Amino acid sequence: MSIQKDKLVIFDTTLRDGEQSPGASMSKEEKVRIARLLERMRVDVIEAGFAIASPGDFEAVKAVAETVRESRVCSLARAINADILRAGEALKKANASRIHTFIATSPIHMQYKLQMAPEDVLQQAVQAVKTARQFTDDVEFSLEDGSRSEPDFMYRIIEAVIAAGAGTINIPDTVGYGEPGEYGALFRRVIEHVPNSDRAIFSTHCHNDLGLAVANSLSAVMNGVRQVECTINGLGERAGNASLEEIVMAVQTRQDLYSVETSIDTRHIVPTSRLVSSVTGFPVQPNKAIVGANAFAHESGIHQDGVLKHRETYEIMRAEDVGWGQNRLVLGKHSGRAAVRARYGELGVAFSDSETFQQVFQRFKILADKKHEIFDEDLHSLITGSETPVERFHLQDLDVRSKIGSAPQAFISLLVEGESHQTEACGSGPVDAIFKAIERIVGSGADLKLYSVNAVTQGTDSQGSVTVRLEKDGHLVNGVGADTDILVASAQAYMDALNLLAMGESKKQGV
Ligand code: KIV
Ligand code: ZN
Repeated sequence: MSIQKDKLVIFDTTLRDGEQSPGASMSKEEKVRIARLLERMRVDVIEAGFAIASPGDFEAVKAVAETVRESRVCSLARAINADILRAGEALKKANASRIHTFIATSPIHMQYKLQMAPEDVLQQAVQAVKTARQFTDDVEFSLEDGSRSEPDFMYRIIEAVIAAGAGTINIPDTVGYGEPGEYGALFRRVIEHVPNSDRAIFSTHCHNDLGLAVANSLSAVMNGVRQVECTINGLGERAGNASLEEIVMAVQTRQDLYSVETSIDTRHIVPTSRLVSSVTGFPVQPNKAIVGANAFAHESGIHQDGVLKHRETYEIMRAEDVGWGQNRLVLGKHSGRAAVRARYGELGVAFSDSETFQQVFQRFKILADKKHEIFDEDLHSLITGSETPVERFHLQDLDVRSKIGSAPQAFISLLVEGESHQTEACGSGPVDAIFKAIERIVGSGADLKLYSVNAVTQGTDSQGSVTVRLEKDGHLVNGVGADTDILVASAQAYMDALNLLAMGESKKQGV
């Protein structure tokens, strides 16, 4: 006899909390692309952003709400009127919407951050939920810093917000302080003590400061939670959030332990992970569970022998079930527009106009001349970084000379707001020389915080994907570039970062 399992709601916050990772900001178009894949993966709720945070955030939430039809689209809002109105406005055209409103409930946050008495926090929370209900019948309330809040106060506020119309109650481990046994027990107690707890779904939202985000989330599930907030690749503020792929696969693989199941189509996990990584410029470490390049690679002879004889000797999941091996060779030098457009369509990418597609197709042709086999990752890299609306700086030409025993030299030609500039510079290595030459022209004054190169696919003809993180006046950006020549990719990534910084500056000046 099969036992009826509860549904575990998967709430993805890659586009909101994930975007709060330093330097991981995404454009509206990039958010829409990721949202399409999340929808295809059958994520239940997509938190598309924090509508009041900036005009860009508002537009991104609105665009996701207008695009996605199957998943519920959500916006974050502080428990204040202006935020909730903005969220409601951005979500107007959603097929199914949610407003996620929050206020801090821990003594330390109420005293020092909010400077509010607990009673006032409670009143504000109730008012926020009532206001949000005027826009949607699906309202989530979060007790920020919940894991450090006092249980008796939490019971009262939760009872009050459920009575006011909140259907989901989230108790986040905002600072990643929780421990699995303790955090799970907290939910058990809340569910037992709050008289109307049966009228809400309880939710977890864990940060990974102690590396316990997934363990804490799963412990919460064991104790009655029926929604998990998580992100692709565990992206998120500071050390990140609980990773969607780990939560989903833990629940699916250990069906003997969990009395819940998700609706996720796991075959889309790896492609979505790849897209998020290429859009944000945050590489996935090779030994990352589920989506790391080594996650299913058996190195030791004993393991290989075992797997060949009987797969389950060493494998608890099948690589193909999470989407490995789907990046089959699809396109090459002779592929035409229709085939390229169709494959992008299958990857969830739709082009807003024919000119944009034409530019991407030209890049495809150039790449296909250099590299015989074009994989899905290559297709993603061709559009990443190509949607920067302001292109103040453009790489025209690059010549790099490197010889054992002498300092590498870079000759560079850039277009700066349409005007051509050339210069040269030496450096301790060729990349150093390129960046120095660019700075000699641009003089941005930005600090280089990170430089990383990763192979997009396998083999020596692979494109190198480069991330350059720059910081200026407290503003962090990640520039990305991809090319079969990693020096060209490095220069492109640096230019992309400069364009993103310039975009931030023009936003500040209200342009
Ligand atoms: O970490 C946190 O507490 C949050 C809330 C806004 C849910 O992100
Ligand atoms: Zn968070």
